[in-house]
This record gives sequence, structure tokens and C-alpha cells, in this order.
Amino acid sequence: MISQLARTIKASPTLKLNEAAAKLREKGEPVIHLGGGEPKSKAPLDAILNCATQLNTGEIRYAPADGLPAMKKAVIRYTEEYYDRKVGPEHVVVSSGAKQSIMTLLYTILEPKDEVIFPAPYWVSYPEMVKLAGGVPVAVVPEDGTFQPTLREIEETIGQYTKAIILNSPNNPSGVVYSREFVAGVVELCERHNLWLVMDDLYNRLVFDGTVVPNAYQFARDLGESSKLVVVQGVSKMYAMTGFRIGWAIANKQVCEAMANIQSHQTSGPVTVSQWAAIGALSGVQNSIESLRLTLENNRNVLVDRLRTIAGVNVTKPSGTFYCFPDFSAYSFDSQKLAEFLLERVRVVTVPGKEFGMEGRLRISFCGTIKDIMDGVERIKWALDPAAPNELFLGDRKLVRDWQ
Ligand SMILES: Cc1ncc(COP(=O)(O)O)c(C=O)c1O
Repeated sequence: MISQLARTIKASPTLKLNEAAAKLREKGEPVIHLGGGEPKSKAPLDAILNCATQLNTGEIRYAPADGLPAMKKAVIRYTEEYYDRKVGPEHVVVSSGAKQSIMTLLYTILEPKDEVIFPAPYWVSYPEMVKLAGGVPVAVVPEDGTFQPTLREIEETIGQYTKAIILNSPNNPSGVVYSREFVAGVVELCERHNLWLVMDDLYNRLVFDGTVVPNAYQFARDLGESSKLVVVQGVSKMYAMTGFRIGWAIANKQVCEAMANIQSHQTSGPVTVSQWAAIGALSGVQNSIESLRLTLENNRNVLVDRLRTIAGVNVTKPSGTFYCFPDFSAYSFDSQKLAEFLLERVRVVTVPGKEFGMEGRLRISFCGTIKDIMDGVERIKWALDPAAPNELFLGDRKLVRDWQ
């Protein structure tokens, strides 16, 4: 009934979990959602005002497929300020979310069966996107059990079909920020092997403890029109504007032209009202990012402290994002089963590590409230740790642990 390609594509596990949690909530179940992928703060006021002004005109029309000129201008300013890099409008493609930026880029650069390498753990969509574009996803799992492979491990994976490497730093789901040496090394590897390097920088303003996220442009030798370095960014995470669906790519002129052509047949370009909101966010008062960053840093500290009270759970402190990727293998190596168990027994939503290419782990988000983080971890601890008290109250329902 459906195509071979469609059969190979899994639903986004995070969106599926949202649905499952919403259904349970509708039934009145006290669900705590620690699986989410979006900050709970409001969009910046400048975004809303700019968008409302546009809406009030009642004239919402088609716009250029690769973005409104004003939006490109805002992106150019952003790139100059935060990447110290001057680009022109011909180097910018605005899309319906960074997700579409990456998807369109893959359509642009991949031939059938080309391989795309990315380190594990990886964002759940990379393998599916690569497959959709006709390519073959290749994950590199760090042998030393950390979240950053060595350059040797990356280089050993490069073969005759390798076309691109995707780096996502800070990384969803681990929160790790790849080191300067690693990013510089991958830039050098890509230039030497003539590969595309896609920097998915969506979370690079949401970092903690004064961490500096290496800027790949600094290490590139070729920054001209033959450069194969592509930076992907968007407003979803840093401005808490996930629903507006605006992201962008910075790439060489030829790639941007091809991406614009593809988008012109896909969506005819990103929603103009959303672009006005993004322009407002990028050009307006910037304090919402710092306030979100501070909230997340505090949430992270609470989450990590609490998780470390669960016997046997191994936690690497995230340096950025709003995700933590603790190792629960002392309890179960099967992350799917573990996540289902936690949802069924204590109504806590987490995302199985398997979805990110690493078993024995769960992705736990800290973009929600402190109360949800504390109560959620207390429930997880109660469900798993034999040293935890035997009883737990979910609302006015008393649970008694009757399993080992
Ligand atoms: C690593 C990463 N890249 C890209 C995206 C896509 O973001 P959006 O399409 O909302 O801009 C996400 C969203 O979860 C992400 O985690």
C-alpha cells in the first residue's frame, strides 16, 4: 500500500510520546513530561508585536521561497554578530524550521546511496532525514563510552561513498559541547576529504558554566564559493519559538540557489507571518535568551543533583541544551522497555536512548518546571532504586512498590 521508502521511516518518537502523554492527561492521569523538546518560556514580545503588525494588515501573501529580504537581513546581522562572519543574502536560505533546512540541504547535496556520518548519540531525525533524501546514515559510536568520538573514529568511518558529516553541538540528547580540537579536526577532515560539513548549531546560545561553543568558521581554510561548510540555525530553541517553524542555513551560493528551488516546490517558502515574528526576535531586545539560559542552567543543576541520588545511575553533566542523557543500564539495558515501565508505573515520560543510537540510557529534558523535574526524578527513583521508600503518592493515589 505504501512505498518502500515510507516503510523505512519511523514516526518521530518525541512527537509520538507527546501524543501518548496528552492522551493519558486527558484521562486525568498525573503525567510528568520529561521528554519534551521545547522551552516553556514565552516568545519574545518583539516577535509577537512584529508578527501581529503583519497580521493586522490582512495581506499575507506568498514571499520568496528562500525567505523575505528583511528576514535574510536579520540573519546576516546575526551571523556577523555571533559567528563573526560576513555573508550576503545569496548565502542564506530561510526554511520552515531548522528541520526543513537540514532536509532541503540533504536533498541538495546527496546522490543515491551517499553516506552521511554523524556521532552518536545523535538527534533522532538525522537517520530518517538521510534516508528520505536517498542516502545512508552512518553513526559513529564513541568507543570510550563518552559522548564525543575521536577524530580517528570519524576518519576511519569515511569511505568512498561518504558525502557529508553532521555535527550537532551542543548535542541533543547528551548536552555535550564538542571540544575546539574536535571541531577544528572535523573541519580539517572535511576539507581534506572534500566532504560537506553541516553544523547544526540550534542550541549554541543555550550553554552553561561559561562554556564557549567552537565556531567552525574559525577553522575553515576555504570560506569562498567552493566552501562545503553549512551552518544551520533557527529561532525554535533560543527564543522558545518552536511553533513558528523558522530556521535557516548559511551555505555557498550554488547550494542556496538549489535549496531555494527545492523549497519553491515544497512549501513555496516559509510562512511569512512567522518570518516577521523571527525578524522581531532577531532584531529586538535580546534578554529573553539570557533569561532562558539562566533558567535552564538552574534546572540542569537540580536535575543532575537529583539524578545522582539514584543508586547506579551514571550522569554526565550537560554543558548545554536542555537535555540530559543518563546511563540507566544498571537497571535495564533495554531503554524502550525502561521508558515504557516508567510511563506505565509512575507516569513519567522520558525518551529511550535507543532512539538516539545508544542503549541503556534515557533522555530526560530539563526545559519544564523545577517542580516537574524534582517530582519526576523522585518518581523514577521510587520506581527503580530499591533503597527508595516503598510508598509514593501520585496525587491522592498511594502506590506501593511490589516489584524489584
Ligand atoms: C539538534 C536539532 N536540530 C534541529 C532541530 C529542528 O528544530 P526546528 O525545526 O524546530 O527549527 C531540533 C529540534 O528538536 C534539534 O534538536
